[in-house]
Amino acid sequence: MPKRIPKILITGGAGFMGSAFVKLLIKGSFSVQGELPFVVVDRLTYAGDLKRLESVRRKFKFYKVDICNKRQIDSVFKKEKPEIVVHFAAESHVDRSINDAQVFIKTNVKGTQILIDACRRYGVKKFVYISTDEVYGKLVHGKFKENACFKPNNPYAVSKATADLLVQAYVKAYKFPAIIIRPSNNYGPWQYPEKFISLGILRVLEGGKIPLYGDGKNIRQWLYVDDCMRGIAAIMRKGRVGEVYNLGGIGESRNIDTAKLLLKVLGVSPEQIEFVQDRLGHDIRYSLDSSKVYRELGWKAQVGFIQGLKLTVDWALQHQRWLKSKLPDINKLYK
Ligand SMILES: NC(=O)c1ccc[n+]([C@@H]2O[C@H](COP(=O)([O-])OP(=O)(O)OC[C@H]3O[C@@H](n4cnc5c(N)ncnc54)[C@H](O)[C@@H]3O)[C@@H](O)[C@H]2O)c1
Repeated sequence: MPKRIPKILITGGAGFMGSAFVKLLIKGSFSVQGELPFVVVDRLTYAGDLKRLESVRRKFKFYKVDICNKRQIDSVFKKEKPEIVVHFAAESHVDRSINDAQVFIKTNVKGTQILIDACRRYGVKKFVYISTDEVYGKLVHGKFKENACFKPNNPYAVSKATADLLVQAYVKAYKFPAIIIRPSNNYGPWQYPEKFISLGILRVLEGGKIPLYGDGKNIRQWLYVDDCMRGIAAIMRKGRVGEVYNLGGIGESRNIDTAKLLLKVLGVSPEQIEFVQDRLGHDIRYSLDSSKVYRELGWKAQVGFIQGLKLTVDWALQHQRWLKSKLPDINKLYK
């Protein structure tokens, strides 16, 4: 007999990562026709786009709702009675948070509080909070384990760390059934072209250069989005409630090396790089120790960095119209 699928509510499901998660859930839910017990809640900010979910439309329910609006959130919970909530919705771009922190504090902190209070009121059985590696701050050597101290260095990271701590406090105070996941930098198809790799691809497709902050020596641990979603799905199903799990990528790479690799995959000259003024408070390196999730659930990243870049570029070449439709916003951001 097919297993009953619990009702899962996904916030931020029209975003880059949330949409990949919704598609993974739907793909794994064979034998059911029509709508599945998946509910997407998304305010559709500049970063949200239902085009990402076009291939699976009619397989999930959608609510255009702001997580900061308690009344709207209440009415969705009352109607849908979700058993599991996976919380991706956030303002997610560091540069925008440096320009203006206000909406980051509102959505990422206040929105999370409204959501977890609704989860408590409506007896949600499991809450999965998608945090970030940025809560730990920078490090030069070694890797961060889940018990490392928080030292966030930009308003985005502070807002995520605050919500992460709030979820931890609810776990302690109310035995709130939450699991926290801290992924490293994701990349892949459908990423909004404000983030390093997707922005680089867009610039090159436009005949320009990849912009590189500072001396390009900052190191990031890249995680292909589908790898990350497999990890999140495994933790949602079998992770221990009350625990924190890091999800780190395979590809630890200096930004300059990432840019050169990307140019190679794109088949253009390695000279197509433009050094720009460094980001304020730019962390030199992030690196996660993901041995806990490997030990407990057997998850590790599988998509190699070059392979992931090729998949991303192939997708971008087929979706140039979508990427270029974001240009006016990107040019305003990086004028
Ligand atoms: N992208 C990464 O590399 C990365 C790495 C680690 C953690 N994360 C975390 O993963 C989550 C998803 O990241 P992403 O890259 O998909 O972000 P994204 O910006 O692509 O998507 C965010 C989604 O949230 C929605 N949203 C924003 N404010 C909302 C609100 N008030 N109410 C309802 N919906 C709202 C947006 O419309 C959008 O669809 C975020 O919580 C982010 O902090 C991202």
